[in-house]
Amino acid sequence: MNSRVKILLVDDLKDNLLALEGLLRRDDVEILKARSGTEALGLLMEHEFALALLDVQMPGMSGFELAELMRGTNKTKNVPIIFVSATAKHQSFLFKGYESGAVDYLLKPLDTHAVKSKVNIFIELYRSQREQKELLTKLTISQTELEQAVRIRDEFMSIASHELLTPITSIKMQLQMARRGVKPDEGIAPTPAMLARVLDLSITQVYRLTALIRDLLDVTRIESGKLTYNFEALDLAALVNEVIDRFFEQMKEAECPVEVSASEKIIITCDRFRIEQVLINLLTNAMKYGAKSLVQIKVISSPTGAEISVTDHGMGIAKEEQAKVFDRFERAVSNNNGISGLGLGLYITKQIVDGHGGWIALESEIGRGSTFKVGLLNTPPASCEN
Ligand SMILES: Nc1ncnc2c1ncn2[C@@H]1O[C@H](COP(=O)(O)OP(=O)(O)OP(=O)(O)O)[C@@H](O)[C@H]1O
Ligand SMILES: [Mg+2]
Repeated sequence: MNSRVKILLVDDLKDNLLALEGLLRRDDVEILKARSGTEALGLLMEHEFALALLDVQMPGMSGFELAELMRGTNKTKNVPIIFVSATAKHQSFLFKGYESGAVDYLLKPLDTHAVKSKVNIFIELYRSQREQKELLTKLTISQTELEQAVRIRDEFMSIASHELLTPITSIKMQLQMARRGVKPDEGIAPTPAMLARVLDLSITQVYRLTALIRDLLDVTRIESGKLTYNFEALDLAALVNEVIDRFFEQMKEAECPVEVSASEKIIITCDRFRIEQVLINLLTNAMKYGAKSLVQIKVISSPTGAEISVTDHGMGIAKEEQAKVFDRFERAVSNNNGISGLGLGLYITKQIVDGHGGWIALESEIGRGSTFKVGLLNTPPASCEN
């Protein structure tokens, strides 16, 4: 805020300029001088001034004529002016067109004290106006950010409610159906096969509900910095193979072929549960958005640790949406084709990877598929330990 402010001195006499300059010199003020109205206009176009001190009587353009021109130009019309005049008669001249307070007069010979205090007042005024302007800009920015955050939250609440209601509705329907089949008075009950189907479907929906709530809790933990990691050294390739084995049935049901290449033993220090979550999120996405295309999972060693890649050949993500998908509550709406989700999976994934000192990258082309790559270090930096 204490950056130097500029003031302009205009006088046709060099000695007057030097005397004024000597009087007004301060570390926090930059003084620019002009010997004529024309020269002054050039400087006024180039710089932003807190104040201009104009000699009234100058050959060619007078101080008043210069002020008149300043008043007519947007860039300079608000620069306050102090007229410096040799005769008292000018003091009564009311310079029209300027806001009151933006114009003042000084009489030659100059009273050192009066000059300094008048100039100081204008400099302070300029500074406080500048501070107010900056404050207003900051306030406007934070208001826009706030409105944006509220909009995103509202949209998310509506998506989340919908996502939570879907499994609940499904469970409700299954239970109602089963209930209708039970007639105690008549000794009628659903067949074991039907009961098994109702229970299986309901259990699947309960799992879905649990996963949704777990994601919501994770986001709350991330936001409050309470996501903690239990690091242990383990073989990443074995971990990936385990997760794929567990996921295999689900992928088969989704008619999604899988190809895994993870044979090399790579010891990584990581949180087993959280890295499983990363893999599950990426696999679920490949399955959801991969349009039943081949999903390829690769684990390779890198000079610093390991790299996991998950590739699908599905709908892909548009360039302009690629950076957004790692944000909270963000879904690449343009290509979701009615596929459900909270828009949290990749956000949580990125936070976990960051928490391991790693990185995540996306290569994707619309209509051709996506590859998500995750880099993990053999040993996360000490700053990741909690
Ligand atoms: N493999 C992919 N192919 C195409 N689009 C994808 C892929 N993975 C993610 N996306 C896009 O990125 C968005 C964000 O993904 P993210 O996993 O964070 O959320 P989601 O899958 O919508 O919901 P969930 O919270 O259930 O994971 C998705 O909505 C989708 O638009
Ligand atoms: Mg997802």
